[in-house]
Amino acid sequence: MSNPSTQSRKRVLSGMRPTGKLHLGNYMGALANWVRLQNEYECYFFIADLHALTTDYADTSQIPDNTREVALDWLAAGLDPEQCTIFIQSQVNDHSLLHLLFSMITPLGWLERVPTYKEQQENLTGKDLSTYGFLGYPLLQSADILLYQPDFVPVGQDQVAHVELTREVARRFNQFYKRPDGSEILPEPQVLLTPAPKLPGTDGRKMSKSYGNTILLSDPEPEIRKKLKPMVTDPARIRRTDPGDPDKCPVFDLHKVFSSAETQAKVREGCTTAGIGCIECKGWLADAVVAELAPMQERRIKFAQGNLVDDILKAGGKRATTRARQTMTEVRAAVHLPPEVSE
Ligand code: TRP
Ligand code: SF4
Repeated sequence: MSNPSTQSRKRVLSGMRPTGKLHLGNYMGALANWVRLQNEYECYFFIADLHALTTDYADTSQIPDNTREVALDWLAAGLDPEQCTIFIQSQVNDHSLLHLLFSMITPLGWLERVPTYKEQQENLTGKDLSTYGFLGYPLLQSADILLYQPDFVPVGQDQVAHVELTREVARRFNQFYKRPDGSEILPEPQVLLTPAPKLPGTDGRKMSKSYGNTILLSDPEPEIRKKLKPMVTDPARIRRTDPGDPDKCPVFDLHKVFSSAETQAKVREGCTTAGIGCIECKGWLADAVVAELAPMQERRIKFAQGNLVDDILKAGGKRATTRARQTMTEVRAAVHLPPEVSE
């Protein structure tokens, strides 16, 4: 890597499932934070395509396209492949081996108790999730993490339980297996909780792909304006002449994230006095969102050319493999497995 301080920087690892084109909620909830972290830490960011299989095993045909779109959005958002390592989980074999080794030492009860397990099983109706692989979802995540011996794992609140399990798995592993000198191989990583501003979608609920209320990072300007126009507002503001309350309006929640202080003041004044209409207000919001996304969309076009993304992911996969082997050489020895055969 080009940064000479790489060796001394603390390490960060995080991942995202290949959900396809990312939206503003994904950006504010994770990606923007990653872009900041890459300058300060030695960062590994990967697309969790094996995790996608745990729920989408019956039809895996969309995973390659979804993986590519996520990678494009990461690069568009400003992840710099010279600065951090970006890769696809399944292209680094050791995720699978470490997961398998963890499966030997993890009591079933630990996995059955993870809160996302029953929740997701109930939410994702229409999919049979009473599988071995789905129960192991958070254990695969533990392998993803511990494989890189990171100091920090930046995640949102919804993933904290998974990092907590990861710490327990590390502790159990370290009890059974040690270095020849008795020291621990897998340090317990810490959560780096991503501060997530409240980001409503166009229907006023949390922005989420499953609600169909998102604005994509790759949406062209007319699409952004079209999506924002019918957005839910302060329900008390029925007629143009009714004053509104920005603090009860999801449009204003987005202004708080994307618009300047001046624009926010102008909205507050105009809304509470009925001096502006909601259409005008949403137009200003669209201006701010378009301005935020414009540089990303330029980069996206650049990275979408030819095989650029594939080359970046391949180079990242090689770099990640090298780092993963460092851990696995010690893990294999500690478990009394023979070393990997390399050609
Ligand atoms: N489970 C995470 C999610 O749904 C994705 C993920 C997989 C992950 N492996 C990880 C996140 C390792 C952080 C670290 O968002
Ligand atoms: Fe919401 Fe803006 Fe309409 Fe006020 S003017 S209710 S902040 S959309």
